[in-house]
Amino acid sequence: MIPRVLEPEVVDSQEEARDYDAMDHSAVNARFCEDFLNLAPDVSRVLDVGTGTALIPIELCRLSPRAHVVGVDLSEEMLAIGRENVARAGLEARVELARLDAKQTGRARGEFSAVVSNSIVHHIPEPLDALREMHRLVAPQGVLFVRDLCRPVDLETCDALVDAYAPEPRDVSEPAAASHRRQRELLRASLRASLTVDEVREIAAALGIPRGAVAATSDRHWTLAWRRPVS
Ligand SMILES: C[S@@+](CC[C@H](N)C(=O)[O-])C[C@H]1O[C@@H](n2cnc3c(N)ncnc32)[C@H](O)[C@@H]1O
Repeated sequence: MIPRVLEPEVVDSQEEARDYDAMDHSAVNARFCEDFLNLAPDVSRVLDVGTGTALIPIELCRLSPRAHVVGVDLSEEMLAIGRENVARAGLEARVELARLDAKQTGRARGEFSAVVSNSIVHHIPEPLDALREMHRLVAPQGVLFVRDLCRPVDLETCDALVDAYAPEPRDVSEPAAASHRRQRELLRASLRASLTVDEVREIAAALGIPRGAVAATSDRHWTLAWRRPVS
């Protein structure tokens, strides 16, 4: 197993934020929201941790007419694009964005009927801190739904995933080609910064969540899906 190599916690340049928003996340985001809503079809008040450019809150509101989403992120650059995306989708009344740290949001214990998070755990040097905070914010009978990349077993597997999901640019002129190359490097760095399923299971166990709540759910993702018992 290759060692974990951390990447910067926060996306803090405008260029990186624009690159991220320009990537096509639609299939991954739709799958995330559908899988979450299968588990929690009746959610009303959702917290999206590390919301980035608010693509998950927008998709959730599209699929679930009752959903109201608070999206939090530490990056003002990502949130600025997120506000534009929310306004373009006409969802200002249902999506609230705030600059807060996933490790310590300051929100009330059990405030949300669901806490979701896509693709941020690998950014956090000590992921237990962020998962502890997400767990704290889930209401009784509420749902915690967290998904992220899995660290590949070796560099060959890592390269194969980069080629499959961020292929080399062909017949594309600059600056689009440069943006494609940065996206490849971003995916490679994210895969290398990710946790393995076993590492996430260890964290779940430390929080009192059964290890079985964590599973590999694609060739490059793990998912933690858990409902808090009544008391
Ligand atoms: C790969 S992006 C994912 C964005 C979004 N969840 C999505 O699926 O499109 C990771 C996001 O996590 C944010 N992030 C990293 N560390 C954070 C922290 N401690 N608190 C809040 N957000 C954080 C980054 O700023 C970035 O916007």
